[in-house]
Amino acid sequence: MENNNTNQTSETTVSSDKNESSGDIELVYYPDDLLRQSTTTVKDIDDSLRTTIDRMVLLMQHARGIGLAAPQVGILERFFVVQIDSDPVHVFVNPSIVGTSHETGVYEEGCLSIPGLYADVKRPSEIQVQAWSQNGRPFTLNADGMLARVILHELDHLNGVLFLDHLAERKREKLLQRYRKPQDAAR
Ligand code: NI
Repeated sequence: MENNNTNQTSETTVSSDKNESSGDIELVYYPDDLLRQSTTTVKDIDDSLRTTIDRMVLLMQHARGIGLAAPQVGILERFFVVQIDSDPVHVFVNPSIVGTSHETGVYEEGCLSIPGLYADVKRPSEIQVQAWSQNGRPFTLNADGMLARVILHELDHLNGVLFLDHLAERKREKLLQRYRKPQDAAR
């Protein structure tokens, strides 16, 4: 999910002592079919997965996003990363929503895979999510506010669902008239 807070002044800094090899993973942009595929359960939470997660976190930070799901970098497996502003990074492997509030909220969303488009999306206000960490530890998290919203947005990505799908058809079509897929070279 993209952070649309234009008042944000704190530039995200990225440690340069890590091996970034940014050519390794790249953002997939709408309307790429990879964003519409089903995903498989992660079988091994190993060093290979942790390397991919580290690269996704760097990519998310460079792009000033607040969430990034594996299909958005062309990996059709069930995991995503979240970092809201200067909060710690949250990693969710094989996540499932185990509870949602009846109460809903509306907030403007964007997506790193659909740059430039923003729209109000209604989602449950509070959720309980169960997942595994990058170290293979299971955890259950109660989330509300922006964190709940980002988790639900990223979880949608694992099911081939985009925030556009939550909009009325007319609104979605109007929004998409403004959309231009970025050129790969412009990244
Ligand atoms: Ni997204």
